[in-house]
Amino acid sequence: MIKKILFVCLGNICRSPAAEGVFNQKIKERNLEQYFFVDSAGTGNWHVGNLADPRMRETALVRGIELTSRSRQIVEQDLYEFDYILVMDRENLQNVKSLIKDKSFPISTKIKLILSYSNKFQIDEVPDPYYGGQNGFDKVLDLLDDAIDGLIESLID
Ligand code: 4NP
Repeated sequence: MIKKILFVCLGNICRSPAAEGVFNQKIKERNLEQYFFVDSAGTGNWHVGNLADPRMRETALVRGIELTSRSRQIVEQDLYEFDYILVMDRENLQNVKSLIKDKSFPISTKIKLILSYSNKFQIDEVPDPYYGGQNGFDKVLDLLDDAIDGLIESLID
């Protein structure tokens, strides 16, 4: 069975495309590509159709990760289409939850903060790097690298 994973942030040009890229790199390294379908989306629509932010793409490329996805906005159907919705922060979590009309939707099993899978870090939100400096983009990748190892471990159990 293919597991379908959707990473979500606000603009879908920094954190969630980075998560998608890190996840794709890790499943490729482990020869697990055939078991997963991966995508990302934003809760906002300002950057729809755009490639990831050049600062995020450059920072990922230094680590050998090419980000090729284009921004799209999450739609209610995604919540049914995907098995896991991994959000970057609590604002994303609230925005995603607000799309759900069905009262029996399994929110807590399907929708999670990505850093709930982190082993090394004590924080539970991936900070938005958009208005900050280079450090923020490196931090995004450090956090995602660790959490996505934990996520993949939990998915292949
Ligand atoms: P992201 O970062 O949610 O990680 O893609 C942002 C990108 C753009 C904006 C905010 C956050 N923006 O306000 O345009």
